[in-house]
Amino acid sequence: MSGTLLLGSGWHPFLFRSEITALFGDFKTLHPRLVLLNQPIDEKLLSRLSSAALVEDLLHFGGYSNNTSFEFLSQTISDWSKENLPPGSFAVRSKKLGSGVKGISRRDLEKEVGAQLYCEKNPVDLQNPQYEIMIIVAGKVDGEVHWDSVDSNPCITWGIRENKWVKSNYVGRQPMERPFFKPISLEPRLAKLLISLAHREGVNPKAMIDPFCGTGGIAIEALIQGMDVYASDLDPTMVYGTKKNLSWADEHNSSITQVEKCSVKDIAGLWSKKENCIFAFDPPYGRNAWKSDDGLELFLAALAQALEIDSQSTISTMLPAGAESLENDPEVDYIVMGRPWSEIESEINAKGWSVVVRSPVKVHKSLARMVVVCHPLH
Ligand SMILES: C[S@@+](CC[C@H](N)C(=O)[O-])C[C@H]1O[C@@H](n2cnc3c(N)ncnc32)[C@H](O)[C@@H]1O
Repeated sequence: MSGTLLLGSGWHPFLFRSEITALFGDFKTLHPRLVLLNQPIDEKLLSRLSSAALVEDLLHFGGYSNNTSFEFLSQTISDWSKENLPPGSFAVRSKKLGSGVKGISRRDLEKEVGAQLYCEKNPVDLQNPQYEIMIIVAGKVDGEVHWDSVDSNPCITWGIRENKWVKSNYVGRQPMERPFFKPISLEPRLAKLLISLAHREGVNPKAMIDPFCGTGGIAIEALIQGMDVYASDLDPTMVYGTKKNLSWADEHNSSITQVEKCSVKDIAGLWSKKENCIFAFDPPYGRNAWKSDDGLELFLAALAQALEIDSQSTISTMLPAGAESLENDPEVDYIVMGRPWSEIESEINAKGWSVVVRSPVKVHKSLARMVVVCHPLH
């Protein structure tokens, strides 16, 4: 067996794939939510993958096919499994993505493959098997919230599930469960996503800097991942709140955590030079504040300061945008932070950064955020 199959969240397949690019570089796309890495599952891969926010399942890759004949599939999957299933109990499970594939009954596939494999060396155990053969039947995804450029053509793929890997869970650390809460608090999945998008292939960031830390939503996720955290905010109440939330979240106490009151315009003086840093933040937006240039001015100040602190760093952020940006039409210059995106991008370039990812995320009916990831231009 070689290769690793990743199943991404249906919430935002494009950002799932962007996250995998940031963490691992190249991959093959089988379906918007299914990607294949050309490397086996090992401790290094598992540790890197623990930074991912949008990965739902992980398989030792078996194969894939666009042939939708039931006989062909059940035979091919059974043949592969006979060769690759180690001795021990097993179950065959399946999952449907989108509308599934016409004419393929998942239950029948499970039963047929199970029946062909069942033997003394491999007894069936549906409750607590040592191995799970996973068959993913992926079809058209219609009416998704987040537009995607990749077509969801029918694809059937299979493999053995990696049982050492545990999907992200945020139980106990939702914003309202933390000691210090304000409505601005970023939910942990988005915070984790901003951090993963700021990764670069082959590099483990040592530190995360958030110059608009608010209640510390991003800082908490960075700390949990073992990064040093440098957080600041202009509002002393937020500085107090982030400190409180970080000491609550800090189980191991092995990372550096510093939280200071500081304007974004002065963070280069506050933190001085650092190496191997990422910047992750959501800049301030009031009901109307982001329509003026103030929000933009602060964002641009963050870009300039970040480059002074670490000229090799990356920036991952979310900027306020109108809900129409969710249509993501490449021909339309959507309004982001009150200005056409093309102008914002020029300003980003003028500060020495290039945009490597840009994708809208739905917040609620009338509001979206533009997720933007920047690398230094040089
Ligand atoms: C959208 S909130 C960040 C929320 C945060 N991510 C969280 O999870 O709570 C933006 C923050 O920027 C801070 N802020 C506003 N103007 C600032 C400035 N000039 N310099 C630094 N922070 C500023 C606000 O006090 C607010 O806490």
